[in-house]
Formats: sequence, C-alpha cells, structure tokens
Amino acid sequence: MEYSIALRGVSKFFGNRQVLKDISLDVSVGKITGFVGPDGSGKTTLMRVISGLERPDSGAGRCYSFDVFREAEQIRQISSDMSQNISLSDNLTVKENLLFLAKARNVPYAQRRIDCLTDTLDLTHLSDECVLHLTKALKLRVSLAASLLHSPAILMLDEPTAGIATGARREFWERLERLAAGKMTILVSTHYSDEAERCHHLVRMNNGRLLTSGSAQEVVHSLGLATFAIRGPDLLKLKYQFSDLLEVEQTVIFRHTLYVTGRCCDSLLSNIRMLPLRYKVEQVSSVLAASVTAGQMSS
Ligand SMILES: Nc1ncnc2c1ncn2[C@@H]1O[C@H](COP(=O)(O)OP(=O)(O)O)[C@@H](O)[C@H]1O
Ligand SMILES: [Mg+2]
Repeated sequence: MEYSIALRGVSKFFGNRQVLKDISLDVSVGKITGFVGPDGSGKTTLMRVISGLERPDSGAGRCYSFDVFREAEQIRQISSDMSQNISLSDNLTVKENLLFLAKARNVPYAQRRIDCLTDTLDLTHLSDECVLHLTKALKLRVSLAASLLHSPAILMLDEPTAGIATGARREFWERLERLAAGKMTILVSTHYSDEAERCHHLVRMNNGRLLTSGSAQEVVHSLGLATFAIRGPDLLKLKYQFSDLLEVEQTVIFRHTLYVTGRCCDSLLSNIRMLPLRYKVEQVSSVLAASVTAGQMSS
C-alpha cells in the first residue's frame, strides 16, 4: 500500500504538558482518515503536526516525501487547512473571495482554476453572490473551493460540519469522497458518528494517546459496543428511557428507527428483551449509530 503519512512514536509538548503521546500512524494515499475523541484529546494538534503546522518534539514522521521535523514548509505547500486559514470576506462575492485568495497563494492561471472549482463544486450560479447572503452550508462549500485552489495533496478539515444540518453534511461528505477518489488524502475530525462511519480509516484518541486505529467497523468492535435497531410506536419516549441507562452510549432516531448503542452487557440486553412485543428489535452490525468515542458523539 502507498502511504502518504507515516508517523512513528511522535510526541508533542505544549510547555511541560504532553499533548501527543507516542503516536504511530500510517495513512494511505486517497483515504479519508477521521479523528475522533473527546475535546482536548489531541485531534487538532495531531492533524496540525501532519500538515506541517506544528512541529513535534520527538519521534519520526513523514508526510508524502517530506520529513515532519525538517520539511514542514514543504508539507505546508502541498497541504491545505480548511478550518483555520480560510477567512472569507462577507462583503465580497464568491468569485471575488476566490480570486483574492488565489492571488494571495500565487495560484497559477487563477481564473481558470476558479472556474474549474466552482463548476465541480456546483458554485457557478453563486459566483456573483455576496458571501454574507450565503447559508452556513454554502459558505462551507465556498471554503472547500478556496482550500482546493492550490491543488493540495492533503486536505485537513477540523470539525468542518459542526452545526450544519444533516442533509447538508451528507452532501459535503459526498464531495469529500469524490476528492478522495481522485487520490486526495483527507484528514478530518468529527463529533458526528454518521461521519465517522464514512471514514475509510478511523483514529480514536484520548488524552494525547491513539487508542484505536483501523476501519470504522474495527474501531467500534474494539469498544465492545452493540447497536440495536428498534421499530415501533413512541420512539422518542423510548429514546429517553434508554438514554437514562448507564451502559447506553448513544441513542439516535433515523428513518423511523431508534438505534440504541451501548456496552454489550446483561443489563442492556435484558432491557432490550423486556420491550413489549409491538416493538421489532434487531441487532445491527452497522456502525451507523454506534458511538465511536464512548459517549462523546452526538448525532
Ligand atoms: N497552542 C497551544 N498551546 C498550548 N496548549 C495547547 C495549544 N493547542 C492545544 N493545546 C492543548 O493541547 C491539548 C489538545 O488539544 P487539541 O489538539 O486542540 O485537542 P482536540 O482537537 O482533540 O480538542 C488540549 O489540552 C489543549 O488545551
Ligand atoms: Mg480540535
């Protein structure tokens, strides 16, 4: 497999506080790697180390052909940090914003590149719209266009869809999948379990450590979580009853089905068995509703 990122025993301190502890990670080209874990667990710092924005203190690491210790500048040339660097000007149009940012980054044939991106990202009809008038979801799409101006090999997205409606999030992720199919390496942190499920590779972190890394299914399996899909009346009431249980990590209603995810223990199973017959229950292996950060995710 062709690895775009390879870290070995990477550590990072802020002052005397160690925020990354002995991280080893391989990410292959053209994959979406998701970083999940509670706030403060080191997701942003790790993605910044990989993107050349933060220098680690010890260990070894490469990002494409560059060394994360000595060639951060080169890494920054081939990466893009959508969340931090792109500030769109509200009082400029979409086109003006992109042109301004393209000039700032010395993008060759800027106008042609912008036309191409606005076309691929379905933004052409909004080119002359003032950014101020765009919805949050559309602004996100313009930010994506801006972050792709210099054709990066690695795209880093730090909780890009926080606060955006489910439908628009899904649409955004379809775009990310298309970019990954075009060999772009995508690093993304998220608190949404449906997004975690869409990642090709999932990295679960806590307190500066990498706890698990693998496919979404592997990560959920390693947590010993089980998910039950329940259909029947009054799902909202049932959702609240289940969410009161200590072993339940997450309850999500999606398409007239309640997904209850929890540690697979006797107590959860007996509560499921006690449901009246009018409820249809099925254990699902899908990670759709499985909480991959043990209670830290919402949906
Ligand atoms: N520039 C910084 N200076 C000092 N401490 C920082 C800095 N950035 C992050 N931290 C600390 O490092 C830890 C990990 O932060 P972060 O990587 O942002 O975690 P996450 O993205 O998972 O929320 C936190 O305790 C945070 O307070
Ligand atoms: Mg963060």
